[in-house]
Amino acid sequence: MLKSFFIRANKDETNIKKGKKMARKLLIAGNWKMNGLLKDGVDLAKGVAAEVKSLGKTDLEFLVCPPFPILTFVKKALRGAKVALGAQDCHFDVKGAHTGDVSPVMLTDVGCTYVILGHSERRADHDESNELISKKTIAAHQNGLKTIVCIGETEAERDEGKTIDVCTKQILGSVPSCADAKNTVIAYEPVWAIGTGKTPTSKDVQEVHAAIRKVLSKKLGKSIANKMRILYGGSVKPSNAKEFLSLEDVDGALIGGASLKVEDFLGIAKNAVK
Ligand code: 13P
Repeated sequence: MLKSFFIRANKDETNIKKGKKMARKLLIAGNWKMNGLLKDGVDLAKGVAAEVKSLGKTDLEFLVCPPFPILTFVKKALRGAKVALGAQDCHFDVKGAHTGDVSPVMLTDVGCTYVILGHSERRADHDESNELISKKTIAAHQNGLKTIVCIGETEAERDEGKTIDVCTKQILGSVPSCADAKNTVIAYEPVWAIGTGKTPTSKDVQEVHAAIRKVLSKKLGKSIANKMRILYGGSVKPSNAKEFLSLEDVDGALIGGASLKVEDFLGIAKNAVK
């Protein structure tokens, strides 16, 4: 019984590794958070667009997620460049009496193709639960948006050795069963690594990403899990990008601070070599 479990587990692992070679396109995503006024955002987008164009054909996918008020302007500034536009949150309803909220349809209407959901800053500042994030994810998919669902442990949880447990619970609760590799990307962002300059070791990152893929495999099936991209986020910069982005189960980066400077954002992309 035990033996067959291990044989099965090993087989799963081999398949997951093979999945990597099935080509998961690296996603280089910038989360601008609540930074930049109109001119800053437009200048940044123009800079990113120009640099991405000058890279020519690459195996990378680029995405920027500016604050709501400047989405339309950033969309214009990105014209002609292969850089997708995303938002940082959305409501689960398409319209109605939700003061201050933004619906997924409004996002597609202004050219967004992605939305970040369940970022730890929203989980903490707005008390977002796994259940709510799952509802938002379903609504985003139903309205044509791809989602980046964020998970990650706090420092206290890490110190208690609960990283995998916390991430497992967050995946099971916030990733809906309609998620697949085309409509969903997972971002693993240890809360303690966000904006602190501290990062986990690459061994730890690979271990957590592999564990996440196993949970996805159980929840969504092996084939979807093998194809689904799992990004790392938390103090990613040009100097550590290669270390993280070359890992077997890391399929891109969700970048905060370093996405606000053209040279840093592109510096990370240039180090994204498998
Ligand atoms: P930093 O890159 O600033 O650590 O932020 C990471 C993040 O929260 C991206 O969503």
